[in-house]
Amino acid sequence: MPDSVTAGQAGTGVTGVVAPATGVAGTGVSPALLELDAVCKSFGKVVVADNLSLAVGEAELVGIVGPNGAGKSSLFGLIAGDLAPSSGHIFFAGKGVTKADAAARCRLGIGRTFQVPKPFGAMTVFENVLVAVQQGGGLRGRASYAAAVEVLERTGLAADVNLPAERLGLLSRKRLEVARALATRPRLLLLDEVAGGLTDPEVAQLADIVRAISAEGIAIIWIEHVVHALTATVSRLLCLSGGLIIGDGEPETVLAMPAVREVFLGTEVTAELRAADPVTGPAPASAADREQA
Ligand SMILES: Nc1ncnc2c1ncn2[C@@H]1O[C@H](COP(=O)(O)OP(=O)(O)OP(=O)(O)O)[C@@H](O)[C@H]1O
Ligand SMILES: [Mg+2]
Repeated sequence: MPDSVTAGQAGTGVTGVVAPATGVAGTGVSPALLELDAVCKSFGKVVVADNLSLAVGEAELVGIVGPNGAGKSSLFGLIAGDLAPSSGHIFFAGKGVTKADAAARCRLGIGRTFQVPKPFGAMTVFENVLVAVQQGGGLRGRASYAAAVEVLERTGLAADVNLPAERLGLLSRKRLEVARALATRPRLLLLDEVAGGLTDPEVAQLADIVRAISAEGIAIIWIEHVVHALTATVSRLLCLSGGLIIGDGEPETVLAMPAVREVFLGTEVTAELRAADPVTGPAPASAADREQA
């Protein structure tokens, strides 16, 4: 389907075409906030999006799991405009954005974090968030300062505002990554492994922040290897493997699917699922699991 058939915002790559009214898979919710239609992307022989179609509704909270190299971060790149698909179309808030760059998509309301936090290291925490409020959120002057303070409080960074970002520990770095994305005032927030490497109490704190953001009506897609954090938070879970969605539905249902279990064999996710199984309970870790630990 062409997404450049009507006049859009000149020079932005954003087109006025209305997205197909397919709604959000299995929810009856329509129209979708985000829609991917037959999106393809490869790096040489590595396929990261294999004719991928996906719809996410306004205020939906969706988790994504998948083995290393499945194409999860690449999917965020495609949605946020850091990667261009080789074919297919992407719609956001009813507009074609396939050709829009990352800055234009950010201003439309797509905010993302990066798996490896990318703050401006020499700038303070406050300055990092202020840049995001002004450049992504479009606020200026006092309003931008007030918005930055609010975001810093919501993400638990109020005590760190004057620290250079490069001096933050891992939890605060992850929080700053969320804060910078939130500061762009997104309608859709893409979280890429914000809980990776954190302790269980730290993961729980981050999950609380995610739930609070979701309660405000912001749609969230959260990629995470820490599966228990996702299942305790999201209402819908996708499993990605080889650029394909091999599971989509309620978290428990998706994690019980044979195809999903198969791709996680020998990984830390399998160990976590095993430990949480009410019938078998914790089992000794496999050699592969021990290697990963
Ligand atoms: N810019 C790039 N150039 C070449 N190959 C890339 C590029 N980005 C990603 N890849 C490759 O595409 C595949 C998918 O990468 P991606 O980062 O999307 O996986 P992922 O599911 O996020 O994995 P992880 O769980 O390890 O973060 C990997 O094989 C990766 O090496
Ligand atoms: Mg990744």
